[in-house]
Amino acid sequence: MNYIPQIPKWGEEYIEKKLYELTHYHEWLTSTGIKAGLISSKDEQAIWDEFIVHSLYFAKIIENLQEKKEQIVDLGTGAGIPGIPISIVRNEKVTLVDNKKTRIFELERLITTNSLKNVVAKQENATKLMKSYENSIFTLRCYISSSNLIKNLSKPIKSNIYLVSSSEKNSLTSSEMFHVKQEKFLINKNEYRFIDVITVR
Ligand SMILES: C[S@@+](CC[C@H](N)C(=O)[O-])C[C@H]1O[C@@H](n2cnc3c(N)ncnc32)[C@H](O)[C@@H]1O
Repeated sequence: MNYIPQIPKWGEEYIEKKLYELTHYHEWLTSTGIKAGLISSKDEQAIWDEFIVHSLYFAKIIENLQEKKEQIVDLGTGAGIPGIPISIVRNEKVTLVDNKKTRIFELERLITTNSLKNVVAKQENATKLMKSYENSIFTLRCYISSSNLIKNLSKPIKSNIYLVSSSEKNSLTSSEMFHVKQEKFLINKNEYRFIDVITVR
């Protein structure tokens, strides 16, 4: 192993309970993920920190929200990020959505060969789903920005929650229609990342 499967203090429980499943997915990302062009080539530690640890903070937010929703929908999932790590540590049904057939094909193979129970992959247009699904938590990592998401949702559905990865400079504020709260967290000893938690008023 050429990397340390670390998680900062906020996520130590995930290492204790799900280390095997998470390292297995990491192995898939570093092999099939790179070979099939689902992610760009990076070293093993960066893949762990940037993809696995970052994804798990989405799960941490969901855990802290304590809201019972029907499903988690990962829009623009690519290689299953953050949807697969979320499905490993959570029990809700997770739907991975991407409009590229090749990505869904590889994800379906991963789901079948590893008998992943609470996750499905769908080739769909994310823009359509974010406006039609109800009672759902949507995750968006490196897909669209919070401001573009809000522009897209002219008639937002009240029962939905949107978790969007964002940059430090995000100056998005709450409005009449949306409440926006930015979460800042460590992905390793010294690098911070941000996720906007957007709820409909
Ligand atoms: C930059 S990648 C991010 C992938 C992954 N979420 C991550 O963090 O590594 C954006 C993904 O969104 C997908 N995508 C782009 N437009 C889409 C759309 N309209 N509906 C669904 N997926 C879309 C692309 O195929 C690509 O896999």
